[in-house]
Amino acid sequence: MGKNLPHHHQHQSKSNNSYTKFIFALFFCLLGLACIVDLFWASSSSFSSSYLRFASNWVSQKPRIFVSQQQQQQQHNVDDKIGKKKRFLSATFADLPAPDLAWEQMPSAPVPRLDGSAIQINNLFYVLSGYGTLDHVHSHVDVFNFTDNTWRAKFDTPKDMANSHLGVASDGRYIYVVSGQYGPQCRAPTSRTYVLDTQTREWQSLPPLPAPRYAPATQLWKGRLHVMGGSKENRHTPGLEHWSIAVKDGKALEKEWRTEIPIPRGGPHRASVAINDRLFVIGGQEGDFMAKPGSPIFKCSRRHEVVYGDVYMLDAEMKKWEVLPPLPKPNSHIECSWVVVNNSIIITGGTTEKHPETKRMILVGEVFQFHLDSLTWSVIGKLPYRVKTTLAGFWDGYLYFTSGQRDRGPDNPQPKKVIGEMWRTKLNI
Ligand SMILES: *[C@@H]1O[C@H](CO)[C@@H](O)[C@H](O)[C@H]1NC(C)=O
Ligand SMILES: *[C@@H]1O[C@H](CO)[C@@H](O)[C@H](O)[C@H]1NC(C)=O
Repeated sequence: MGKNLPHHHQHQSKSNNSYTKFIFALFFCLLGLACIVDLFWASSSSFSSSYLRFASNWVSQKPRIFVSQQQQQQQHNVDDKIGKKKRFLSATFADLPAPDLAWEQMPSAPVPRLDGSAIQINNLFYVLSGYGTLDHVHSHVDVFNFTDNTWRAKFDTPKDMANSHLGVASDGRYIYVVSGQYGPQCRAPTSRTYVLDTQTREWQSLPPLPAPRYAPATQLWKGRLHVMGGSKENRHTPGLEHWSIAVKDGKALEKEWRTEIPIPRGGPHRASVAINDRLFVIGGQEGDFMAKPGSPIFKCSRRHEVVYGDVYMLDAEMKKWEVLPPLPKPNSHIECSWVVVNNSIIITGGTTEKHPETKRMILVGEVFQFHLDSLTWSVIGKLPYRVKTTLAGFWDGYLYFTSGQRDRGPDNPQPKKVIGEMWRTKLNI
């Protein structure tokens, strides 16, 4: 979350760093490997600055410290494996070749947001909640008007509604908001569920989910609100459950959620798209940051994550999830980063697997297209920068995106600034 982290966090990582540098240097001197010390210092200084950046991205990662020759040999073995894996997975970390698109900057949203949500209803783009900083979450909706490209309205969300990682879906008038994380830092998700009438701007509550979910894939499909996957209460453990409830005109037609066929792989931050008789669930991850045990402010601490490119599809029979061709690279944090245009799903940005060696997070800057007739993927362009949990819309031939967390620059795909910027490009596909 970039600049907004408390200062003590950064100091802490800085001193860890000098210590690490010292240990590294000492170790190599002792081994008499003076010839590589220079080289190592060179990479170590980039390591140290990136460690700081890394730390400022919600993370405190312990650097490796070599202590014995045996361990060094083991380390070499690991590095060999990583080397192989890197060659094998290189497309994951590199930007894929993609044509440039001409992006035009539009008025920024009133606030920056990360892990917010968005629903487009005709020419209006409802942008909900999200983090402003790690210690502050939004509890309002901003509305962008695509006709005159202005941010017009702002109104509150219910006090008890989650503030980030919502599951959202709409029928063109009502916006359903299912579960999500309540409060800042890495607090737990709730099961509370609401519906907004966009014409009256009134909120009502709906039957709560059978259990809290964090960033579940959510979609309205054939008269039922479907909620799939996400993480469980601790934000980290993938949920496989799939529930649905019949809804009409902003009202639940049933008292309880119905259990449906579980999704083959659980986890948060996926896109879910309903098109006619088919429901698609795309990308996402298993695992996420969770609250540090005992932390009174539920301070975020990093946990193991696996990002995936899986695509699943359910047809009207709802008997079995079909596995479709995966995304061109593993991609997560794309829950509201998609639009449907010309019988295809367009996905903007995201975040991919961490780098196997540096463990740094790597953002995605490509625009992907999934062709619904051939069920194939292509890379159709580049965003102005790499960015995750961006919110995408489509109006009058233009692809728009706003919000999310962008990279550190063209040469550094690690996450940094939380943005409110809005951009658009004329799409020609
Ligand atoms: C959106 O903008 C158009 C053009 O200015 C305007 O006619 C319309 O009323 C606006 N819609 C809303 C809901 O503000
Ligand atoms: C969608 O397809 C139509 C017909 O081929 C084409 O005229 C239009 O430009 C396409 N739209 C976009 C946004 O590319």
